[in-house]
Amino acid sequence: MKHEFWSERWQQGRIGFHLGQPHDWLVAVEPRFPKSARVYVPLCGKTVDLVWLRDRGHEVIGCEFVAHAVQDFLHEQGISATLEHRGSGAASFPCHRTPGLSILQGDALDLSPEILGGTVDVIFDRAALVALDPACRQRYVDGLHRLLKPGGHLLLIAFAYDQSRIAGPPWSVDADTIESLLGDRFSIETIAVRSEEGNPRFQEAGVTEMEERCCWLTRKD
Ligand SMILES: C[S@@+](CC[C@H](N)C(=O)[O-])C[C@H]1O[C@@H](n2cnc3c(N)ncnc32)[C@H](O)[C@@H]1O
Repeated sequence: MKHEFWSERWQQGRIGFHLGQPHDWLVAVEPRFPKSARVYVPLCGKTVDLVWLRDRGHEVIGCEFVAHAVQDFLHEQGISATLEHRGSGAASFPCHRTPGLSILQGDALDLSPEILGGTVDVIFDRAALVALDPACRQRYVDGLHRLLKPGGHLLLIAFAYDQSRIAGPPWSVDADTIESLLGDRFSIETIAVRSEEGNPRFQEAGVTEMEERCCWLTRKD
């Protein structure tokens, strides 16, 4: 989806995806992370997962393209960051930097290992792949593969539902889609699956159930 779509949602406070506490599956799976890992959190919004991961001793880098979201995050967490610039031209990212935690403000689809300051050990994608227009998925996962060290991990939390009833975001990403997008370059372990009630907009469209899936992927080469 375009920047204007998300910017409007942030301005109107339509951020039902935001959780006030660390995601329970992140808390459950984090012990698998290497110690003091470099962790990239794409499409991070203002998730408290960022500070939770930093407080676990990891070096965390988030990416979010709506300035409002970044400012809310810094304000709500009481963080005063120094501002640097990474990249150039169309791929120019303001970087809000604090010890152990940086937020790159820009389009995650344009991110390179150079802008990220090197490859990472773990990528934590919660509601990021599902937030992207399906036409962008291949470019996004190719980017994730480039940003991750060989043998590195992707912790993916996605939603699936009957896409014929309503358009996203979140777009439906089921097990078959994960396999076809990532299966050739990652080994995929499904850690957990559970049912969720759809939000009111989805329920009105007849989507009574959503499946939330947690996968642990490991880069093969
Ligand atoms: C569904 S929210 C998920 C936020 C966060 N992962 C969480 O769990 O709370 C998606 C977020 O990604 C941002 N976003 C969407 N497309 C993006 C892109 N191409 N690059 C960077 N941020 C993007 C939106 O502004 C929004 O804050």
